[in-house]
Amino acid sequence: MAVIEARGLVKAVGTGRAARRVLSGVNLSVDAGEVVAVLGRSGSGKSTLLHLLGGLDPPDEGEITIAGERLTGARARAQDRIRLGHIGFVFQQFQLIDELSGRENVLVPTRLPGAPAGGVRRAEALIDELGLRAVAAHRPHELSGGEQQRFAIARALVNDPEVILADEPTGSLDAANGATVLELLAHMTGRAVLLVTHEPEAAAIADRVLTLEDGELVGAGAGAQRR
Ligand SMILES: Nc1ncnc2c1ncn2[C@@H]1O[C@H](COP(=O)(O)OP(=O)(O)O)[C@@H](O)[C@H]1O
Ligand SMILES: [Mg+2]
Repeated sequence: MAVIEARGLVKAVGTGRAARRVLSGVNLSVDAGEVVAVLGRSGSGKSTLLHLLGGLDPPDEGEITIAGERLTGARARAQDRIRLGHIGFVFQQFQLIDELSGRENVLVPTRLPGAPAGGVRRAEALIDELGLRAVAAHRPHELSGGEQQRFAIARALVNDPEVILADEPTGSLDAANGATVLELLAHMTGRAVLLVTHEPEAAAIADRVLTLEDGELVGAGAGAQRR
């Protein structure tokens, strides 16, 4: 079953003479249990695409369905609920809150109104699984980059989402820590993982590799071709 479904996504950025179409008709379908890598050079629109799929920014045209729920056209509150219940984000710069410990960062999404039950139990299990128990009370600036990204991954997983959206997740890490993070993303049993990156090594863990080029997603198995 496709848990990420996008049809005809169009997005322009900038205004007036600086306006530019970054996405010009993107189709994408990612099944549960599938890891898809989207490669593309810097500025090709990878982050823009992830922002649309995560409901952080609306497309100019097109439709997005996440875990069977229509994201595009939904009211802001419904979009928040879809994001909270179905999507986990992982970013290049980790985006941890520096005032909070690693554990408290993982718990943040479990405390938002409407969060699914069982979050505290899952947080503790993830802290163990990701080898973070000994540093769970440390704050982000006291942690290595690899540890920070593992806390960010635990935070992304804590509400047990069907979808993981990762934007250059290894971009701030050395090779060894980057490999660990890719291994984690490659083994998210049952989830749909969409990984965007300019690093071809990341593609090695993917079930499918697509390329974002001139505003379109191309490559063997691109959404439009699979159907
Ligand atoms: N808010 C914005 N205003 C103007 N231009 C933007 C904005 N966001 C992104 N862009 C431009 O859109 C293009 C795609 O950006 P982005 O999606 O961040 O690419 P990537 O993640 O592949 O590097 C780039 O040319 C970038 O400069
Ligand atoms: Mg980017």
